[in-house]
Amino acid sequence: IKKENVRNFSIIAHIDHGKSTLADRILEKTKALTDREMKEQFLDAMDLERERGITIKLNAVQLKYGANNGDDYLFHLIDTPGHVDFTYEVSRSLAACEGALLVVDAAQGIEAQTLANVYLALDNDLEIIPVINKIDLPGADVERVKQEIEDVIGIDADDAILASAKDGVGIDEILERIVTDIPAPSGKSENPTKALIFDSLYDSYRGVIAYICVKEGSLKVGDEIKMMQTDKTFQVSDLGVFTPNPVSKEELTVGDVGFLTASIKNVGDSRVGDTITLAKQPAEEPLPGYKRLNPMVYCGLFPVESDNYNDLREALERLELNDSSLQYEAETSQALGFGFRCGFLGLLHMEIIQERIEREFNIELITTAPSVIYEVELTTDEVINIENPSLMPEGKNVKEVREPFVQATIMVPSDFIGPVMEICEKKRGNYVDMQYLDEHRVNIVYDIPLSEIVYDFFDQLKSQTKGYASFDYELSGYRASNLVKMDILLNGETIDALSFIVHRDFAFHRGKQIAEKLKDLIPRQQFEVPVQATIGNKVIARSTIKAMRKNVLSKCYGGDISRKRKLLEKQKEGKKRMKMVGKVEIPQEAFMSVLEMN
Ligand code: GTP
Repeated sequence: IKKENVRNFSIIAHIDHGKSTLADRILEKTKALTDREMKEQFLDAMDLERERGITIKLNAVQLKYGANNGDDYLFHLIDTPGHVDFTYEVSRSLAACEGALLVVDAAQGIEAQTLANVYLALDNDLEIIPVINKIDLPGADVERVKQEIEDVIGIDADDAILASAKDGVGIDEILERIVTDIPAPSGKSENPTKALIFDSLYDSYRGVIAYICVKEGSLKVGDEIKMMQTDKTFQVSDLGVFTPNPVSKEELTVGDVGFLTASIKNVGDSRVGDTITLAKQPAEEPLPGYKRLNPMVYCGLFPVESDNYNDLREALERLELNDSSLQYEAETSQALGFGFRCGFLGLLHMEIIQERIEREFNIELITTAPSVIYEVELTTDEVINIENPSLMPEGKNVKEVREPFVQATIMVPSDFIGPVMEICEKKRGNYVDMQYLDEHRVNIVYDIPLSEIVYDFFDQLKSQTKGYASFDYELSGYRASNLVKMDILLNGETIDALSFIVHRDFAFHRGKQIAEKLKDLIPRQQFEVPVQATIGNKVIARSTIKAMRKNVLSKCYGGDISRKRKLLEKQKEGKKRMKMVGKVEIPQEAFMSVLEMN
């Protein structure tokens, strides 16, 4: 198939608007998969994704399509994630495409991530084909959604495709429009080779498997290649495409999207966003890589078993390979021992990495509460970044503490304007703007401290708007705030992993809340344990964990041995996520309790 008949595209959508279902229909129509394989949504490959029902890692599939004009076309469908935390992966996959299907739910209309993703697509100069999905729903309102697409996004929606991915309606039209509307890749096969690494994963036998899109020139098995960022060279051992099962090829050329292996053992040698060229005839300039996004939220990850420290390091190295936004460095906590301070793009990103470490690498973790990065200006004019609350400097030599603010965009039916504004105000937000999307829906913009977003903003927003709100945010800058560090003492000892930063106005309230919460979360010990919340050296709240009264076993009447065993086992299970800190046993939940404060 000639290059003019290649189409590289993505599907962008707000979460749940039907991207994966549509991808499956497209796979089905192009007969890429057998029926058995179709049973599962193919593109959501990871277990974790399936469970949570969201797409996290992008994937690329090659499809053949016989168009109405009689020609055969080669499609590369590159999947993108839909969640606010994964915008960076969206921009990655879009860099490999010339066009995008913009899927909008016919009943819901444009939501916060629809907009965020469209902007990324427009930044990448992609041809956008609007698809209004779920027209089978009784609540579908095609005209309203068309109007929204024109008013809010500013693209023509007259010829938007009306579809129901569920019922297979509109799929033929989508395939034809991909052929007619999306341009072929523009590179030339005779130019010096440039292939973009847009994803990669590690296989213990084959080393790094790089997902690539060939933008210029070509690659053959046996070629000596060079990574343009690191200057390292390797010999190509395998090339191929996903149909969607991996199929080896001797050569990949302009427009091809597939995989490459080259006995790359060191994960750092194949960075996502890097350009591959030929060692003998290198390209002069690399492709524009991705804007590397900096983490917004940090937390400590500590192995429950200290023996697992090196395994944890290895797990992080592996995960970092295709997730350049994950950052980590060694951290030592007096309370929790050796571990890592890790940076994430947001809370979901954090949870997913934690779960992957536990499931894929079998390491049990204690995680500390997430924190944002604070900027501290000292009286010497030096500015330091603090990503670990326990390290916050205090006292006379601190001139100013600044915290990150985000511009939060909240789209919601107008009935909920009141509750949304109330939450934002309570979270120290400053009103910026409000626009009507149509008669019934508004877009509310607030400037809010990121730390308040971390403390269950989204959950509150959802429950106060009956799940109707959609939400997106973007860092807007650092502002000075009246912040203090709160330390927690158990049994008279400061537990560094429990320290957190709080606005002075909320300090008393939150100090009280956390002292009470910890009293309930930390199990009774053999002795009485005082819990204190302090600022500086001043105790602002306290509670007491009473001593244990009875042995659990005394609850089992007499000699029922199997019951006793069950009880002991149950206890052991409950113990798993505990860490002995000094003489006090602290459960995992205690380290997260700060997140549940309001
Ligand atoms: P993420 O992968 O999480 O970003 O979501 P997604 O956009 O891929 O959505 P997905 O395809 O998983 O669909 C979300 C829900 O909408 C599922 O329950 C689908 O069955 C349903 N759905 C998808 N398309 C249609 C449609 O055309 N009509 C109706 N009624 N439901 C649909």
